[in-house]
Amino acid sequence: MKKESFVSIVDCSKEDILHLIQKAEFFEQHPNQRILEGKVCATLFFEPSTRTRLSFETAVNRLGGRIIGFSDAATTSSSKGETLKDTIKMVSNYVDVIIMRHYLEGAARYASEIANVPIINAGDGANQHPSQTMLDMYSIYKTQGTLDHLTVTMVGDLKYGRTVHSLLTGMSHFNPTFRFVAPEELRLPEIYKQFMDNRGICYSEHTDFSPEVINQSDILYMTRVQRERFTDLMEYEKVKNVYVLTNSMLAGSKDNLRILHPLPRVNEIARDVDDNPKAYYFEQAHNGVFARQAIICHVLKIP
Ligand code: CP
Repeated sequence: MKKESFVSIVDCSKEDILHLIQKAEFFEQHPNQRILEGKVCATLFFEPSTRTRLSFETAVNRLGGRIIGFSDAATTSSSKGETLKDTIKMVSNYVDVIIMRHYLEGAARYASEIANVPIINAGDGANQHPSQTMLDMYSIYKTQGTLDHLTVTMVGDLKYGRTVHSLLTGMSHFNPTFRFVAPEELRLPEIYKQFMDNRGICYSEHTDFSPEVINQSDILYMTRVQRERFTDLMEYEKVKNVYVLTNSMLAGSKDNLRILHPLPRVNEIARDVDDNPKAYYFEQAHNGVFARQAIICHVLKIP
């Protein structure tokens, strides 16, 4: 049987996405099962994580599978100079699926070409974070009742934010209107604009996080400025607090607006937003368990 990795949302059709959302819905209703009994999953995290690693591990544990892995590459033989290729080849011998986060763009695709088990990309540099996209889209579907014809506003670090790159790709199947709010230094890369132009997707770019933009939105997708991607920390200092969403800024927003954030947050959402019923980021992170249960079963071809 052909090995099925989950490396980029670009590889997913509209039908794949809808199928995974249906499966996530099922797992939310039935989170505890034994369908991964006898399976061993590896979580290889070459970059820090709280939500992605722990929700994948929760997903596996709730389905009766077992987990091995590491959350700090400094404790592994990569610190002695072992290559990613050798690490992947070795771990492939031990497990049924590898869930990997790596700081290099393209690392997950490379690993999928080497491994003889499926690879799930848990984030590769500033490139893609497709499992985050599935939980984001599941959250959008749950809160809006549809994925079609929504106005999605993405705010913050659109240059380095891999969740932004993945989400705009996934949502592109559903006739969205995008508003992109970023400072000049952190604008969306050209490649994603070309992608949307080729698909005839409506979007606009803004440097001002204005009431007009907020009040038109169905989804406000806030993001952190990705400090770890800057080579010059002075540049980071200039933009780190460029946009801060406060509760008063939501006064004229639509009733159905929901505020998402992949988390971790730094300062971009003020704490006074947390109690607003439109704040959905903690529920969004919870949805990650169900979306990741769906992805693991998808790559292991468990119906
Ligand atoms: N959203 C996300 O990827 O969070 P972590 O970095 O904590 O995994």
